[in-house]
Amino acid sequence: MNPVNDVFLRAARGEVTEYTPVWFMRQAGRYQPEYRKIRERYTLPEIVRHPEVTAEVTLLPVEQFGFDAAILFADITTPLYAMGFDLDIVEGRGPVIFNPVSSLDDVERIKPFDAESGTPFVLEAIKILKRELKVPLIGFAGAPFTLASYLIEGGPSKNFIKVKSFMYSQPRAWSRLLERLTEAMFDYLQAQANAGADALQVFDSWVGRLTRYDYETYVAPHMKRLFEKLAGLEVPVIHFGTQSMHLLSSMAAAGGDVIGVDTTTPLDWARDRLGTRPVQGNLDPTLLFAPAKVLERGIDAVLSANAGRPGHVFNLGHGILPGTPPESVALAVELVHQKSAVKP
Ligand code: CP3
Repeated sequence: MNPVNDVFLRAARGEVTEYTPVWFMRQAGRYQPEYRKIRERYTLPEIVRHPEVTAEVTLLPVEQFGFDAAILFADITTPLYAMGFDLDIVEGRGPVIFNPVSSLDDVERIKPFDAESGTPFVLEAIKILKRELKVPLIGFAGAPFTLASYLIEGGPSKNFIKVKSFMYSQPRAWSRLLERLTEAMFDYLQAQANAGADALQVFDSWVGRLTRYDYETYVAPHMKRLFEKLAGLEVPVIHFGTQSMHLLSSMAAAGGDVIGVDTTTPLDWARDRLGTRPVQGNLDPTLLFAPAKVLERGIDAVLSANAGRPGHVFNLGHGILPGTPPESVALAVELVHQKSAVKP
């Protein structure tokens, strides 16, 4: 079924909308008491393997706060199990890989990914959600660099020394790894769109740690290929990175219908450089811990940086943080809707 509220999809296509649509990255998660209750019974990978629980968790913030889009509940590591990786998600830390990649042999051992057999539960969750949702559903995947950083580092990293050393000293294995991840994530995203996802987001969360030269040399060719293939799916694709202001033009050139702008990149600066290309962002997630008046000022600042230009999807500059007061989330959604509404 087509969503009843398609304001998000129209903004993502750059159309003028009656108000600015809003959703938050990681809008379903630990800051919600209802989610924490479900987490007492299931680990994160267990939630993802139960489509009806996934659907319940995905719907929680949409029903509670009135977001204009839902994002499928999963993790960027979800497809990695079917590619032969053994991993765990450690609370407060992130994904840990027990059989990391360190050579061309390891790259060749990665199993070819097929979404229908590898992640059937994700596709089933999308089908359930499409029956229940009145707003568009966003599917997502990790970008090749961000996934490679976990696969090579073996877990979250501060300085990205292992992944960068691998990239610099084993260029053939690197290129093969990124090709394989590109193929796999295209298959995964395509299957999500075919199952009913109305839009897709590619999370390249850690790519901002590369210089522009290294991004262009080691990553951009793969991203171009991924976005060229995704363009054939006819759903809007959002391209997101963090601490990536220096990469804005390179990431935009690589592709994506909507450019996700993180907190450290001024939204007006990004818009001035992207022409009419739609953008998504970029409220600082820590403003949700501020007093209501300060939060309101932060929202005003984002809206005025956009200056009424069509093609703005309101979001945070990065994922919502654990400990965020749910009341602030409710207030933020209400303020964005109110303040951006076109007055008759
Ligand atoms: O609501 C949504 O946005 C959908 C769900 C979602 C999750 N992870 C669930 C999750 C999405 C879109 C992601 C993407 C993701 N996962 C990214 C890209 C986005 C970003 O924030 O940059 C990255 C880098 C990961 C890897 C990852 N998974 C990290 C760093 C963590 C946090 C570890 C921690 O405990 O703080 C996770 C775990 C994770 N993924 C949680 C959730 C709700 C917290 C988990 C829990 O319930 O234990």
